[in-house]
Amino acid sequence: MSNALLELQGVHTHIGAYHILHGVDLAVPRGEVTMLLGRNGAGKTTTLRTIMGLWQASQGRIRFAQQDITRLSTPAIARLNIAYVPENMGIFADLTVKENLLLAARSASNAARMDRQRLDWICELFPAVQKFWDHPAGKLSGGQKQMVAVARAIVEPRDLLIVDEPSKGLAPAIINNMIDAFARLKASGVSILLVEQNIAFAKRLGDGVAVMDNGRVVHAGRMADLAADEELQQSLLGLAL
Ligand SMILES: Nc1ncnc2c1ncn2[C@@H]1O[C@H](COP(=O)(O)OP(=O)(O)O)[C@@H](O)[C@H]1O
Ligand SMILES: [Mg+2]
Repeated sequence: MSNALLELQGVHTHIGAYHILHGVDLAVPRGEVTMLLGRNGAGKTTTLRTIMGLWQASQGRIRFAQQDITRLSTPAIARLNIAYVPENMGIFADLTVKENLLLAARSASNAARMDRQRLDWICELFPAVQKFWDHPAGKLSGGQKQMVAVARAIVEPRDLLIVDEPSKGLAPAIINNMIDAFARLKASGVSILLVEQNIAFAKRLGDGVAVMDNGRVVHAGRMADLAADEELQQSLLGLAL
């Protein structure tokens, strides 16, 4: 467990007067895709926001690459090469796809100076980025926006990519593209933590899995083992994979 790239131990989070996370234990191993599953309201988004410092943990510890990041600010956490794509994707609708990517490229002052090789690779992963390069991002479909959001998150090399429900509301063909892109990102050495409601998606992409309920991780293991155990799926998620 201590070998994990990201590790949460006994993390509690309060939002105002509400006690939302009740001691979350979670490990994201290096080089794997970890799926975070659970019913609506289980605390998945709150867990991601707590990792990113957008909520402050009231108790417990968060470690990234052996460093304690529990009390770091969000910008300091992002500087450790952790990228976060929130549920609403955080895209600037009035800006072009190019401008959206450029904003995220900290080291490039203009598009011409963005790392060309990396950009080519991103366009290959997400063809919509190239196709709509000079279009306002707000005009794109949901799936295309999601691709721009992930592309933006990886415009600079990352060690950990965190995405909240990347398949939400997407058509099956787009979901297949997303799965393919995440698999290639993993192959490039990025560790990935994904929140999912789409069980088929989780099953195809996940190496490890954690299932949340009521602000806690109630099951952690290998995705393949959970996928093979319908009874366990039923008891944890109330549905079959
Ligand atoms: N800003 C907030 N204020 C009050 N309660 C919140 C807030 N955000 C989330 N919650 C509550 O925290 C619980 C977990 O929410 P969330 O982390 O969004 O769950 P999930 O992402 O698993 O659906 C829910 O009961 C939700 O109503
Ligand atoms: Mg959520």
